[in-house]
Amino acid sequence: MRPVVIAHRGASGHLPEHTLPAKALAYAMGADYLEQDIVATRDDRLVVLHDIHLDRVTDVATCFPNRARSDGRFYVRDFDLAEIAALKVHERTDEHGKPVYPGRFPSAGEAFRVHTLERELELVAELTSKGAWPVGIYPEIKDPAWHREEGVDITLLVLETLGKYGYKDHNAPAYLQCFDEREVRRIRHQLGCELKLVQLIGEDDWTPEPTNFAEMRTARGLTKLARSVDGIGPWLNRLYTVRKKDGSRKSTGLVERAHEVGLAVHPYTFRADALPPGFDDFDELLAFSIGELALDGLFTDFPDRVLRYLRRIS
Ligand code: G3P
Ligand code: CA
Repeated sequence: MRPVVIAHRGASGHLPEHTLPAKALAYAMGADYLEQDIVATRDDRLVVLHDIHLDRVTDVATCFPNRARSDGRFYVRDFDLAEIAALKVHERTDEHGKPVYPGRFPSAGEAFRVHTLERELELVAELTSKGAWPVGIYPEIKDPAWHREEGVDITLLVLETLGKYGYKDHNAPAYLQCFDEREVRRIRHQLGCELKLVQLIGEDDWTPEPTNFAEMRTARGLTKLARSVDGIGPWLNRLYTVRKKDGSRKSTGLVERAHEVGLAVHPYTFRADALPPGFDDFDELLAFSIGELALDGLFTDFPDRVLRYLRRIS
């Protein structure tokens, strides 16, 4: 079976991430799933944004210059939805205001805004109800522990919203993902969520909070995960090593270990304009990942490129 293509933040290689135009474009390209990263506003509305901050992808610093916290960052949680909806969205920038991916869409036009999770689920329902092709959703609950400290149980809000749009059981066209292992277990065992679940696996030095990602990648860790989730979303770079001598690539065995305990593997992030170590061609990366690693799915900013590759080899 061919791997499922997950439009990472929409067709974000072509249009500003997580905007409705980027989602509609990904749908038109034929992506199997549209990804939603989810953060809560001050008035407890869910918006589709990658960060708990607004400053890397919007003009918040210009519109609300006095609303940064002491660390200089502008937090979604400090703004009401109406304020956030008035911001313009642009391509992701770094801490110096420089584009992270310089070759991508240049302007911050009126067309690009932050929207709610509800609005995106309505768009999906509208697109798929007109007799066009189906598409699944792939929501990620962002920083549930941080949200709890901020006074909101974001997980409950997300599950309620997904349920309202019919995403309730295991057969729903949805995967729910989160980096927080405790929260994933809570979602499955305490909250009784029946949706397909994916444990995201990052690096233990990515956040100051204690994590146990190294353990998750072991056979023992994966066996434990398999009691709660349907799949894992590992960092692509952890799936292979590159031999210094001749540049050849070899699986680390993570995909195989996950498959042994029945877990699907959907790594992130396949970017044609930011290739991982050992590759200087996107199709070569796809050939290795799909042909040799035998992935079950992949997160990509370029669903068009991945789908074109899959059509070519089918
Ligand atoms: O959710 C898969 C992938 O998006 C994880 O990384 O940081 O882009 O959300 P991030
Ligand atoms: Ca994500």
